Order: sequence, then structure tokens, then C-alpha cells
Amino acid sequence: MDKLIVHGGSTLSGSINISGAKNASLPILAASLLTDEDVIIRRVPDVSDTNYMIQILSALGAEVERSSGTVRISAKNISHDAPYELVRKMRASICVMGPLLARLGKARVSLPGGCVIGDRPVDLHIKGLKAIGTQIDMEGGNMDMRAPEGLIGTTVDLSGKHGPTVLGTDNLMMAAVLAKGTTVIESAAAEPEVVDLANFLIGMGAKIEGAGTRRITIHGVEKLHGVEHTIIPDRIEAGTFMVAGAMAAGPEGITLHRVCEADLKPVTEKLLEAGHTVEFNKNGTSVRVAPGENPKGCKITTAPHPGFPTDMQAQFTSLFAVTPGISVIEDTIFPQRFMHCAEMSRMGANIKVDNGRAVIEGGEQLSAAPVMASDLRASAALVLSALTAKGSTEINRLYHIDRGYEHIDEKLLMLGANVERVQS
Ligand code: EPU
Repeated sequence: MDKLIVHGGSTLSGSINISGAKNASLPILAASLLTDEDVIIRRVPDVSDTNYMIQILSALGAEVERSSGTVRISAKNISHDAPYELVRKMRASICVMGPLLARLGKARVSLPGGCVIGDRPVDLHIKGLKAIGTQIDMEGGNMDMRAPEGLIGTTVDLSGKHGPTVLGTDNLMMAAVLAKGTTVIESAAAEPEVVDLANFLIGMGAKIEGAGTRRITIHGVEKLHGVEHTIIPDRIEAGTFMVAGAMAAGPEGITLHRVCEADLKPVTEKLLEAGHTVEFNKNGTSVRVAPGENPKGCKITTAPHPGFPTDMQAQFTSLFAVTPGISVIEDTIFPQRFMHCAEMSRMGANIKVDNGRAVIEGGEQLSAAPVMASDLRASAALVLSALTAKGSTEINRLYHIDRGYEHIDEKLLMLGANVERVQS
């Protein structure tokens, strides 16, 4: 298990490239199961979650070649049974359900287990797939799915008590592309990653309208064909480094290339409100972020896209821990996603968490302590805190961060941070 030692206090400068989006890559890799023709996907980040997905595709019978960021998949002969040993490692494995059902009329996938960021039920995935003709039996921890009459389009409302579901929308969209007739997803997720998946499917010959809005319409087609596709930039990786710029860069700031300005709007707005400098180039593909002279605390409430992303909540907690004033962060999507706060308190942060809300009294310099990463974004928050802390912070269980940040230690080194990955 690797750990990261961050020697705090370096001033960040220079520039890096942002990687392709992990959360777009995962469903798009799964969607390659929808055709027996070759699929080429570019800018797939080299993170452990995409490696798990590739292992699942291989275990299902697909031939997969990966060379740097490009993945070539040939899913000529595939089976319907996703092995538990691989599925249990990553919740996003459940997005093979839709493609397997569409292509083979059956799928067996384990129920994902508990998750440290809160309850993550799959009732909306099941609701969507049942509505278009899937029979589902639960047995031995598996979801056994069959569509004996074939999948048949209908209208389904996928809203849940915490709003729309991203992977639930993806699953139904991937199942519906080969269904008979038209499927309408009401209360669909509108995240940029859902739009990227829709564009990938459209490139394969699917007929989809409305991706990026709350209503997606899918007209089923008989067959899909091969495609070449480039994954969109990772807005959460970009947002994380933008926060790093606001917290630890010199007056010149740091510059991030290969970003998408539109996808970063809620993060940009909050950094500007907190008094920092955020400047995009003319075509919105590079951004410079520098710390403001008089930063101040803010109130943030997470919401489905185009609202403030839950996946950036932990990183802003780090920013506000060192920002004078009182900030309040409420997570309406995952109200239990505050594991980072207890670890940050060990570094001297003043944070009170109650009922899905963190109240942060910021301004003091943090000090180094050995801390434990609990999930992907919580780990990112600890790295950010460590960059400005006094002393050397040891972040254990680095595998959490390796799930979703491509070569984070190398990128931090390129920006002038003093970090070391230590194998233990
Ligand atoms: N929900 C239900 N029932 C369902 C599915 C979801 O009640 O059947 C609830 C969830 O418990 C949550 C809300 O709906 O309260 C939204 O969950 P969603 O289904 O949208 O989450 P997801 O699709 O499983 C993706 C990202 C997460 C990100 C969320 C929200 C991927 C691989 N994962 O998860 O990313 O936090 O959307 O935007 O795309 C991360 O990258 O660190 C991460 C956790």
C-alpha cells in the first residue's frame, strides 16, 4: 500500500495537462460491449478504476488492448456473467448491466456493497431496467436479469430522493439504444459525463436526443457499429488542481491545459466568490488560477449538474479550512460524505459536521499529521490540506486517490510541490 508524503509550504507554479474524465471513461468502456465491431477510445486516464473496468470487459470475453491513453476493444463473443471478484472492487461495474442486457438479453452482476460516502442503493437502476422489460431476480448477492420478450421502450421517471442518478441514467440509456421503440428518461442526469456517453453511443449509430437536459429520448435501433471517440476532460481533476492553485500557488498562479470551461462553471463561480483569480483562455481550454489577496469564506450547497458537484465538496472544505471567516458546505447528494473532516481536524482544521452540513471556521495554518485517506475525493482534500500545512503530512491508503487521479504525484511535482510516493 503506497503512501504520499507531502512536505508542506512549497509555492506552486507552472502548468500541467488535465487527463480524460474517469467518470466518462467508465460507462463508455462498458458501452463498448454493445457492438461486435472494434471500438477505439482515446484519453482514457490511467487510473485503477479504468483498469478494473478493462479487467471486467476482458473477463466478459472482450479483447482489450491498452496503449498509453488509447484503449481498443473488440467485444465479438461475450458472456453475460460479470465476476463478483472484479465487480466488488468498484461500484461503477454496475454499468455493464445495460449493455449486456441490450446485446445478450441477459446479465448477471453482483449487487454493489456498502460505500464509505454513504448509502448508494441501486433501486433507480432496477426501476429503469424493469420498466423496459427486464425481469430481475436477486440470488446469492447477484442481480440475475433477463429480458425474455426483448427490451421495449417506454417512459420512465428516474428521480430519487437525492435527485437524478448519473449511472442509473447511463444504464438505462445503454439498454434502450437497442430496445424496440422509444424510451424517454424523465428526470435524467445532465452531467457532462452523461453527454459524453450519449455522444459515444450516437457515434455507434444510436438515436439519442436531449442528453444534457432532464429528458433524454432514445429511439431504439437494430444494431450498433464501431466508433472512435475521445473522452472529455476530467472536470473534477481540473477543479481539484484549481483549488490547489487558489491555496498554494504564487501570484502568477498555475495553469491547467485541456480543460472545458463550460463544465467548470460552478467551481469557477465559487473560487471567484471566495476572492481568487480564475482566467480562461479565449477558447476555454486552459485556465490560470491564482490565490486572491483577500480570500473569504462562502456557502456551498451541492446539487446535480449544473449545480455545484458533490465530487468537489471535500476539496473546497480544504480551501475553506485555511480561508478566514466562516464557510458552510452542505452535501444534498451524499449527506454522509464528510469523512475527510475528521482527518483534517487532526491537522488543526476547525470543522463541525452535522446532518449533511460542515461548518468551517477557517484561517489558521494547518499542521502536518499522519492521516488516512477514506475515499477518492476525501484523499484529494487531504493532499490539498497538506500542501499548505506546516511540516510533512503522511497520507496513508493512497490507493483511494489512485482510483481516480492520473499520476497525481507526478503532476504535483511538475507544479513545484514537494511530494514523495513511498511504497510500504
Ligand atoms: N441513488 C438512489 N438510487 C439509485 C441510484 C442512486 O437513491 O438507484 C442516489 C444516491 O444514493 C445519491 C444520488 O442518488 O444520493 C446520486 O447518485 P448517483 O446515482 O448519481 O451516483 P453514481 O451514478 O453512482 C456518479 C459518480 C460519482 C458522483 C455521483 C454524483 C461515476 C462512476 N460516479 O455516481 O463519482 O459522486 O455520480 O455526481 O460516475 C467520484 O468520482 O468520486 C464519485 C463518487
